[in-house]
Amino acid sequence: MNTIWSPQARQVAFMERPEYEALYGGAAGGGKSDALVCEALRQVHIPHYKAILFRKTYKQLTELIEKSENYYKRAYPKAKYNASAHCWTFPSGAKIYFGNMQSAQYKTDYQGKAYDFVGFDELTHFTYEEYSYMFSRNRANGPGTRVYIRATTNPGSVGHGWVKERFITAAPPMTPISEIAEIIQPDGSIIKMKRKRIFVPASVFDNKELLTNNPEYLASLAMLPEAQRNALLYGDWDSFSGQVFTEWKNDPAHYDDRKWTHVINPFRIPKYWSIYRGFDWGFSKPFSVGWYAVDTDGKIYRIREYYGCSGTPNTGVKIQPVEIAAKIRQIENEDPNLKGRNIIGIADPAIFEEQKGESIARMMEKSPNFISWLPGDHSRIPGKMQYHYRLAFDEDGETMFQVFNTCKHFIRTIPNLVYDEKDVEDIDTDGEDHIYDECRYVLMENPIAPRQNTRKDIVRDDPLDLFDKKGNYKFFKV
Ligand SMILES: Nc1ncnc2c1ncn2[C@@H]1O[C@H](COP(=O)(O)OP(=O)(O)OP(=O)(O)O)[C@@H](O)[C@H]1O
Ligand SMILES: [Mg+2]
Repeated sequence: MNTIWSPQARQVAFMERPEYEALYGGAAGGGKSDALVCEALRQVHIPHYKAILFRKTYKQLTELIEKSENYYKRAYPKAKYNASAHCWTFPSGAKIYFGNMQSAQYKTDYQGKAYDFVGFDELTHFTYEEYSYMFSRNRANGPGTRVYIRATTNPGSVGHGWVKERFITAAPPMTPISEIAEIIQPDGSIIKMKRKRIFVPASVFDNKELLTNNPEYLASLAMLPEAQRNALLYGDWDSFSGQVFTEWKNDPAHYDDRKWTHVINPFRIPKYWSIYRGFDWGFSKPFSVGWYAVDTDGKIYRIREYYGCSGTPNTGVKIQPVEIAAKIRQIENEDPNLKGRNIIGIADPAIFEEQKGESIARMMEKSPNFISWLPGDHSRIPGKMQYHYRLAFDEDGETMFQVFNTCKHFIRTIPNLVYDEKDVEDIDTDGEDHIYDECRYVLMENPIAPRQNTRKDIVRDDPLDLFDKKGNYKFFKV
């Protein structure tokens, strides 16, 4: 028999997973897109089977389409590709489509449609809203098909944060992650259903075919700038190309001595330090409240946070300004670092808008909560530069900004911010940037002069030695 394509060991590990969702990801060149394109073929003998393979833009789809022209045509010489419909039709009648989703509005192109198999290539290019919409389109077109979702990706891009949380930090690689969905039936009774997902790490070292055909490719990856190299050669999810705050360091070994780390253990704030409170309003998107202490040298510490996000990435909790004000009042009455203090509130200037009725600022400052705000400086690039100046380490590992390790959402979202592809100096506002904005208003209220970052070299393990003594994949810090 003439074999057209057969999976390599790590591709087998991905393709044999039984979970509903599986992400095959990490380093470049592992054979991820090949595996995805071939995975879509697995049910084409079933006449009513329909599959769709996504890339973010139509132009980017060319790569997958070329792969399909190579493999599908050779495996099924009678299969036909309709270039205007972006669809393969197989002799059984089964179809594999190619789709793009340039923005969340494109979701409507898929409304009312059903696909037994949904595949996303380069998942971090998508927002969670775009990805999760396809759960509703992923259903059987008839009896006997398997209904499931597969994705592949490199680290980086606007979806880095949610993809990392959903698949990478949720559990060690190759460990199933379970989520329970509760469904209220028409009679009011509740049923619980389990959905599973998994992360399968990819590495260029798994792709023997590529390393045989092109051994020099390793050198090409090794010569990339540091952040890109770490992501694309080692599959490191903590540094990636496009990351805005590459100087960010979270080192638990230094939480107490507070050197060479931006995250530290909480401490009691002296009475004579000033306290600020920042606010970025959101209703369907998250809102963010952060409290900051400024020491006598002008160094800022983020000491407490109240972040209004639901369990769904980048989605708000839809609560009214008065309720937020009440919770702020409660926190400021109870937190020993805030109780009885004079607190200066700085907020997104948009909350003072009165054109559509009473402003958010006015609602919050009324009795009984009395939470008052001053309008923050909204200048985006100077605000971003203030972050860089403050996060920079001097030769002794000192910075002008640190965060209590209790501020989980700040620690989670700031390192995930990426540059906007169109406005290359600014961050991509499709990311989870509400805490970034909220803190930016406070930093702009206390601007400092430029400071340069002095870098300590990151010590890396031998790239060929991917597993530690216990057999765990080394480059995923979980
Ligand atoms: N099982 C296989 N048999 C033969 N060649 C393969 C196999 N898997 C992958 N390759 C080849 O290896 C190369 C890289 O594969 P692929 O494009 O799937 O990598 P990738 O992980 O998607 O890369 P990137 O991270 O750049 O998207 C391609 O030329 C592909 O055809
Ligand atoms: Mg690929």
